[in-house]
Amino acid sequence: MSEAFAPVDVIIAKRDGRELSDAQIDWVVDAYTRGVVADEQMSALAMAILLNGMNEREIVRWTEAMIATGTRMDFSEFPAPSVDKHSTGGVGDKVTLPLVPIVAACGAIVPQLSGRGLGYFGGTLDKMESILGWRALLSNDEMKDVLHASGGVICAAGDGLAPADKKLYSLRDVTGTVEAIPLIASSIMSKKIAEGARGLVLDVKTGNGAFMSDLPRAQTLARTMVKIGNDAGVRTRALITAMDVPLGLAVGNAIEVTESLEVLAGGGPQDLVDLVLALAREMLDIAGLDADPEQAITSGRAMDHWNAMVSAQGGDPHASLPRAKHEHVVTAPTTGTLTTLQAYGVGVAAWRLGAGRARKEDAIAHGAGIWLHAKPGDHVAQGQPLMTLLADDEQRFEPALAELDGSYEVGGEPMDRLPLIIERLDENTT
Ligand code: URA
Repeated sequence: MSEAFAPVDVIIAKRDGRELSDAQIDWVVDAYTRGVVADEQMSALAMAILLNGMNEREIVRWTEAMIATGTRMDFSEFPAPSVDKHSTGGVGDKVTLPLVPIVAACGAIVPQLSGRGLGYFGGTLDKMESILGWRALLSNDEMKDVLHASGGVICAAGDGLAPADKKLYSLRDVTGTVEAIPLIASSIMSKKIAEGARGLVLDVKTGNGAFMSDLPRAQTLARTMVKIGNDAGVRTRALITAMDVPLGLAVGNAIEVTESLEVLAGGGPQDLVDLVLALAREMLDIAGLDADPEQAITSGRAMDHWNAMVSAQGGDPHASLPRAKHEHVVTAPTTGTLTTLQAYGVGVAAWRLGAGRARKEDAIAHGAGIWLHAKPGDHVAQGQPLMTLLADDEQRFEPALAELDGSYEVGGEPMDRLPLIIERLDENTT
């Protein structure tokens, strides 16, 4: 088959700072997925994009071209509006777990395609897989059956959604081009738009424990993604939220399920509850549903939807969760106020305890992680427990403790804290 362009011409155009045409973008994304554009050529193009950027038209077109390489899901058979949420990820971010059944209990359809964790970020599927029997891999028909049963589903994204992204993301990972905002925004949004929900709320995290630690870059990413979503006909909003301190008190897998159940039962740490409710309100507003997410919790309906969702995916919602074999308690070295608790250090320590994986094929220890007993601003007495480290292998405590060294402080200068919700971007944001 004769090709519309020569790969090198597209690379040179971007290398020299020129705009790529719609036809060039459509072709290069498709030809890369077909194997006609080689990895080394796409690497050069990705680097040129990282260095010279893309304008809004190019980013939107690139996203559409990635979506076109795969299938797009469709929930129009459901009478209820469909709405989804995506988080750029953070330490202790278990928001999806309580959020999906809460929003489903308020009358929406919530198809939540999620991933596994790599590095110190936990993955939603890893957390859910702490539940005995629960299955992440569902066919499209099974996914719809779960939605009919419970209004919500949390499952793995199939290979059919934006396959170009899968290939390109692996390449970016080994070519120093992950950081390009046009490529991050199109990567996330191609998958989210292909998922087929009519509304989307993005939780873009910033702070030392976030993928976008720098606020101006997080703002640019959020603005770019909101624009891509709305241009594609998906009502999209974003909250830029704090990830300077872990979210909630649990950092791990099974213990994050435990904490999510506390929220569904009407308790849970305040920061987590506040963020879940803020995101739920945005999702319901986008979906045009006049329902109160707090009432969905207090009435017990959100918990009913959770139980139905977990059961429909083969899980036993009442089975005990895995527990780590060993514990190590870290106590306050002195009496005073806990002034610092860095999300990054806590996240890496939990990963060293076995809660995360270093390579895609690694197994994780579902019971491993860290329970925090204090957050910045809390008064603690000397010897009082600050956190409990959990691991299946006692040898993991030493590297985890080394990672925590310097990540918390009692009685020092208070760390600069970010407000929980830093900024809100809606359909009218330009
Ligand atoms: N997550 C994604 O899905 N893609 C990126 O490029 C970065 C984070």
